[in-house]
Amino acid sequence: KIYENQEIASAYVANRIASVIVTKQEQGQKAILGLATGSTPKGVYKELVRLHKYEGLSFQNVVTFNLDEYYPMHPVEEQSYVSFMKSNLFNYIDIPKQNIHIPDGTLSMEAIHAYCDLYEKKIADFGGLDMQLLGIGRTGHIGFNEPGSGDCSKTRLVTLNDLTREDASGDFGGKEKVPAQAITMGIQTITQAKEIILMALSQRKAEIIQKALKGAISADIPATYLQKLAHVEYILDKAAASLL
Ligand code: GLP
Repeated sequence: KIYENQEIASAYVANRIASVIVTKQEQGQKAILGLATGSTPKGVYKELVRLHKYEGLSFQNVVTFNLDEYYPMHPVEEQSYVSFMKSNLFNYIDIPKQNIHIPDGTLSMEAIHAYCDLYEKKIADFGGLDMQLLGIGRTGHIGFNEPGSGDCSKTRLVTLNDLTREDASGDFGGKEKVPAQAITMGIQTITQAKEIILMALSQRKAEIIQKALKGAISADIPATYLQKLAHVEYILDKAAASLL
């Protein structure tokens, strides 16, 4: 779906998420949402906050799992995805604290493997993700699944690409300050979600969107794995769609 501008695209996605929340609520069930960070979903979160504040949308029955976190990363750091989620969404809605899950960037190396298995188990115990929101990196990554990630990959520790660290350098005050690693949900974790929304906004994403949607399915561009699935919506603004 190609939208005239970022605001309309973001409002559409926020309404899709809100409708999952309301439908689940009516069924007396929890809505299990997979959430993303980055500049792309900011407008979605802003609209969800507005729906909460002015239209009575409640997050009491919402459980969230974030895609990823830098490693190492302390949650109180400004660049942590914990800080991002608080300042863009969680601080302004009524979601119970215990319903929020974000990979822990403070673990020791030895503890990571078991922690990642537990993250997978928690998602499975909730019956899987009802909806996963995704952005896309310029390497074609989803979450932090960089080129080379297999389609059966699960939550794990990964090494970030040069271009990804370059793109994050503004937030960290220099590329060398961007952590070299991250904990990310895997491709399989993501593709098992019942519905997936991949968002891309602005001209910066036009080239990778062209490759992700029209290129051959390959580990070189992990977002191409989504081509195999029927339950994916690509939400683009005109600029991101300009090379399609
Ligand atoms: C980071 C995140 C991704 C996100 C990507 C794009 O790498 N881990 O989940 O999709 O950035 O960021 P932006 O939306 O700022 O372009």
